[in-house]
Amino acid sequence: MTILIVNIKELVQITENHVKMVAGCAMSKLSTLKDAWLLTEGAGIKDFGRMSEGRCQRKDGNWQVDGDGWQMTAFDQVIDATGRLVFPSFCDSHTHLVYAGSRELEYIDKIKGLSYEEIARRGGGILNSAARLHVASEDELVAEALPRLEEIIRLGTGAVEIKSGYGLTVEDEIKMLRVIRKLQGMTPLTIVPTFLGAHAVPAGYKGHQGEFVDIVIHEMIPRVASEQLAGFIDVFCDQGFFTVDETDRILDAGMKYGLRAKIHANELGYSGGVQVGVKYNALSVDHLEFVGDKEIASLRNTGTMPTVLPGAAFFLGMVASPVRTMIDAGLPVAMASDFNPGSSPSGNMQFILSLASVRYRMLPEEAIHATTINSAYAMGISNDYGSIEKGKKANLFITKPIPTYEFMPYAYGSNKVDEVILNGKLIAR
Ligand code: NIG
Ligand code: FE
Repeated sequence: MTILIVNIKELVQITENHVKMVAGCAMSKLSTLKDAWLLTEGAGIKDFGRMSEGRCQRKDGNWQVDGDGWQMTAFDQVIDATGRLVFPSFCDSHTHLVYAGSRELEYIDKIKGLSYEEIARRGGGILNSAARLHVASEDELVAEALPRLEEIIRLGTGAVEIKSGYGLTVEDEIKMLRVIRKLQGMTPLTIVPTFLGAHAVPAGYKGHQGEFVDIVIHEMIPRVASEQLAGFIDVFCDQGFFTVDETDRILDAGMKYGLRAKIHANELGYSGGVQVGVKYNALSVDHLEFVGDKEIASLRNTGTMPTVLPGAAFFLGMVASPVRTMIDAGLPVAMASDFNPGSSPSGNMQFILSLASVRYRMLPEEAIHATTINSAYAMGISNDYGSIEKGKKANLFITKPIPTYEFMPYAYGSNKVDEVILNGKLIAR
């Protein structure tokens, strides 16, 4: 399968030399090519360049591309992208998009003034979703998740991390992870599963939650590892959820089974989550509304990606994470949707791009890095995804006719994505 895209108004987010992430002031620089072409072969990006170079030209009505020692004259598809831009697909490195039902009635309680923690204490929140998930079959969960995946594809997402965490029992956590595995074979999206057994303390363990932590460690983790259902392990390390000591024990156990940490931290307070994540060389620490000098110091010169979830902070009306301070301190920042029924019932990464600029004062270039290459890093796939680079996977979208790449975060609320190519195949229009 080959696809040739010609007359691209601007090809955005080009990288070289297998850059894995972009940090600090480098985030404000974005490499692009105006008036470009791009060729895919199989699942990958074979080559790209400027139309004016003459390597891609029309001869006797047929397109021809000349490469380094090769020439191609026949293509399965030729797309004329006049007036349109090409971006690498968004990588959404943090979602909970397998869930049963929805929680709009709780959201009314939120409007009336109840906090996220108060709703959780009343048995709402995550426990509400866990009760619904318990009575849903694997097939029902698959059927609910598929339209969500369809929707995010059309909004420009090409790779998505999905967490368990609405099971909260051994069997239901395994059920969720099996659903995620089934979805992997049913969609052109690249799906990365994360085990989140310690998402909330089940009602029966209130006051002795250490026993639940023991179940996560001694029963859930070994099952997840033996069935090879996930490569990452998450813990909701925050006030009212799991403590630093409990998180430490869980991450230690996960590491022994080859599960790398990728945790929820510092959403509700200075929980110590960032530091315990860094201690275990977490791939990412996510949320980060409460980040000060100590957290920034602990993240410096580590392999841990600070990941901000603007949709959850927006929906819950929370303080904004100090993204500017982190970037100005030289750190990288990734952004993801947190798509889930409680705190962010949307997986629209274009809206995340807009929130990045509107609410976090990120430049369009910084926001694009945060939602592509850096979020690819935060899900362990930046070798293959997250930018336009020869040899990387052909996961990209062609926009509708728009004037500039800056228009993407600016024109919030509308879908600017026209055509989608995932792993070298034209998926949607
Ligand atoms: O990332 N913070 C913890 N977990 C989710 C919320 C899940 C839910 O409310 O269902 C989050 O915001
Ligand atoms: Fe989350």
